[in-house]
Amino acid sequence: MSHADPTRPAPVLRLADVTRVHGRGAAEVHALRGIDLAVHPGEFVAVMGPSGSGKSTLLTLAGGLDQPSDGEVLVEGVPLGGLSRGKLADLRRRSIGYVFQDYNLIPALTAAENIALPRELDGVSGRRARREALAALEELGIGELADRFPDDMSGGQQQRVAIARALIGERRLVLADEPTGALDSATGDAVLGVLRARCDAGAAAMMVTHEASHASWADRIIHLRDGAVASESPGYRSATCPAAVHRPNSAGEVTR
Ligand SMILES: Nc1ncnc2c1ncn2[C@@H]1O[C@H](COP(=O)(O)OP(=O)(O)OP(=O)(O)O)[C@@H](O)[C@H]1O
Ligand SMILES: [Mg+2]
Repeated sequence: MSHADPTRPAPVLRLADVTRVHGRGAAEVHALRGIDLAVHPGEFVAVMGPSGSGKSTLLTLAGGLDQPSDGEVLVEGVPLGGLSRGKLADLRRRSIGYVFQDYNLIPALTAAENIALPRELDGVSGRRARREALAALEELGIGELADRFPDDMSGGQQQRVAIARALIGERRLVLADEPTGALDSATGDAVLGVLRARCDAGAAAMMVTHEASHASWADRIIHLRDGAVASESPGYRSATCPAAVHRPNSAGEVTR
């Protein structure tokens, strides 16, 4: 596999023979079975598969929000299993942007405050964190919502605030669980364009999606079935024409 190429940069994310079993005895569920996977700088990976196939479990393990039953997860070469709670929290905040399926915004904070919070926890000044938050909101097309509270926003607006929060700072790994679920197709494409640009600038991203047209923004698509990788297919940047960059249009068709 890709590790054979010494000129290739080290992966931002690596899962080494990762298994996750929920419950015990008769209630045992093998959510993931022996997953091997690497995501390199600049790579955008989409994860598809039927409900219950292990997509969210894969993402939570990659983000250090859950631990494997067996195997190892490494982010920027650091095995997450060996970190103390404090060190894991630091690494998650600095290196990993996570877009939750249900957004997880803090209701008592405005959009800008929600986005600025992880930066302020990292020691960035309040003024600079707010400036970065406003720029992230602008990039996602919702600059006018900066001082609005989550309860006063639509689902799609909250979803974009959650994406802005995941992209702020120098996050090297962006993990997104159905980040376009609440968006219409034009807005969804705009958001995917922002994720794509982040990867083109050197970040690594892994996104769960049910939409084939959205997955086509990725470099490769991993298909999960029953907790294992059933197959892998190229996204729009097919390996057969690595130099070509073809963006899908709003109908998901790739044009030249
Ligand atoms: N905390 C848990 N306790 C027990 N079983 C769980 C738990 N979390 C997930 N599972 C089981 O693990 C399997 C994989 O779940 P997961 O949420 O990863 O699926 P998914 O592919 O994200 O599905 P969906 O498309 O519906 O979001 C399912 O069988 C699920 O019931
Ligand atoms: Mg899920």
